[in-house]
Amino acid sequence: MTTWNLIGMKHHVLICNGGSCMRKGGEEVTLAIREEIAMLELDGIVHTTRTRCNGRCQDACVVIVYPEGVWYNGVTPEKARELVQRHLRDGEWLEETITYRYEEKQGLMMKKWKVALFLCGLVVYFTFTGSTSAFAMHIMEGFLPVGWAIFWWLVFLPFLIIGMRLLIRITREHPELKLLIALSGAFTFVLSALKIPSVTGNSSHPTGVGLGAVLFGP
Ligand code: FES
Repeated sequence: MTTWNLIGMKHHVLICNGGSCMRKGGEEVTLAIREEIAMLELDGIVHTTRTRCNGRCQDACVVIVYPEGVWYNGVTPEKARELVQRHLRDGEWLEETITYRYEEKQGLMMKKWKVALFLCGLVVYFTFTGSTSAFAMHIMEGFLPVGWAIFWWLVFLPFLIIGMRLLIRITREHPELKLLIALSGAFTFVLSALKIPSVTGNSSHPTGVGLGAVLFGP
């Protein structure tokens, strides 16, 4: 399918024409998608491309729709026509045949940003409004005066950046550790926030930091 003019293009559909998909009707699926696009006069907004194997042969026939990044599995010629009508024309995804979608992840990233912004807002709120100033160690005892808070933030910043980079590397290499990292972070935060009576006289801070170092390295 030749496309000379890309202005107005909204979707790019990758239709797997690898060996496994072709054995399961990839040619018929390709023709069905293209015929339906032509019939519904969607040529101006949808471009299709035949691809080689997409590495998901057990899902044959595989069709992937961008920019949403929706991976469909088990597409038959009938499903292919439905996909064009519902997804490409009506913007409604065929939930029952989706293997994976990128948008969900983007949505998750947005949620994370919103949570981060909310937490920053809380910090700013408590720092500049009606909080008790205290030269103390725990959050429950009050907050440092603004000048000292900024000073300690600046001192802390390089460690935050190094720590974040380290955590990103660890979670990329071992995604299964995310829960443990979150749990130990929460544990350390609680230790720092509360003034827990210590019978033996030792400080609770080295306990949280020590736990982090034992579990994930210095
Ligand atoms: S042949 Fe289609 S995913 Fe491998």
